Amino acid sequence: MRLVSGIQPSGLITLGNYLGAIKQFIALQEELKDTEFFIFIADLHAITVPQDKTQLRKNIRSLAALYLACGLDPNRVHLFVQSEVVEHSMLGYIMESTVYVPELERMTQYKDKKLKQAEGIRSNLLTYPALMAADILLYDADIVPVGEDQKQHLELTRNLAERFNSQHGETFIVPKPFTPKVGGKIMSLQEPTKKMSKSDENPKSIIYILDDINAIKNKIKSAVTDSDTAIKYDLKHKPGISNLLTIYSLISDKTIPELEAHYKDSNYATFKSDLAEALAGFLKPIQERYQALLASKELDDILDQGRDAARAVAYKKIQKVYKRIGLGRVK
Ligand code: TYM
Repeated sequence: MRLVSGIQPSGLITLGNYLGAIKQFIALQEELKDTEFFIFIADLHAITVPQDKTQLRKNIRSLAALYLACGLDPNRVHLFVQSEVVEHSMLGYIMESTVYVPELERMTQYKDKKLKQAEGIRSNLLTYPALMAADILLYDADIVPVGEDQKQHLELTRNLAERFNSQHGETFIVPKPFTPKVGGKIMSLQEPTKKMSKSDENPKSIIYILDDINAIKNKIKSAVTDSDTAIKYDLKHKPGISNLLTIYSLISDKTIPELEAHYKDSNYATFKSDLAEALAGFLKPIQERYQALLASKELDDILDQGRDAARAVAYKKIQKVYKRIGLGRVK
């Protein structure tokens, strides 16, 4: 069995990325003992929008260190940079010949991001799901842990795998999405009916894992809550408090009903202040480990090893795909 997932190094990593994705990787590496893990930094995906080259390289290294600081075990996981395994681009291009333009135009993320693009829409913003399918199919992944917002891309990946297999013969495993029961969609702190997103213009709506600890506390304290005073999980009528309860539960060992019972006679200010302290306490050690890892030689060794392990698998797969569709020469 194989597991594959990635995160874009575009900007800073949010609490949404952590709770929706990284936290799952860490839990599953313990649970799925017989599964081989391929986790990567999706830098090729980042260039679907303009990037500053110095900043991009910084972000790539930063995300690698953050994965490890959050608890990814380099002895369990092949951790690598997507662009360093050239087969991702190769298969991405091939998957573009398997997908049709209207299928790509239907992707919600494309529709949303397209609206935000002031400088013109790059063609790879549209073809991005073909590359994402390649990332997954290259490794014969059975399981792909992602947040809710990536489920549509994964559904497309499954369709493309099936289509390719039926046109060219059994080549790819059809992967399954894995979204967390709670935390698959962490909401904005300012507009809790919207996803917490890196591209949000209001920094108060997002918690970055590497935010200054006091800034984190202030963001929680100024999070939008709901009009009555009850600390109760009710997504429809109380999206703000429900989001905070979700976050609190995921970073502590308390369930949402336990938190509701604990804060039954309390008020929003106390609840938020406790959550602010708990979150700060949770993120501080991650930030400390991150700083130590960022400067270490160990980080490069881990990424080199990850790249080599990924390449070995990816190379074989691309040879098989070339043969299936008749690219290159007979050897
Ligand atoms: P990206 O970089 O936007 O997000 C990385 C992961 O974080 C999850 N996520 C969230 N989960 C819960 N609440 C939120 N507010 C939230 N925001 C983001 C995402 O669902 C994702 O799991 N295309 C992908 C990266 C990618 C990939 C892949 C993933 C490229 N190739 C292959 C899996 C397999 C992306 O842009 O994720």
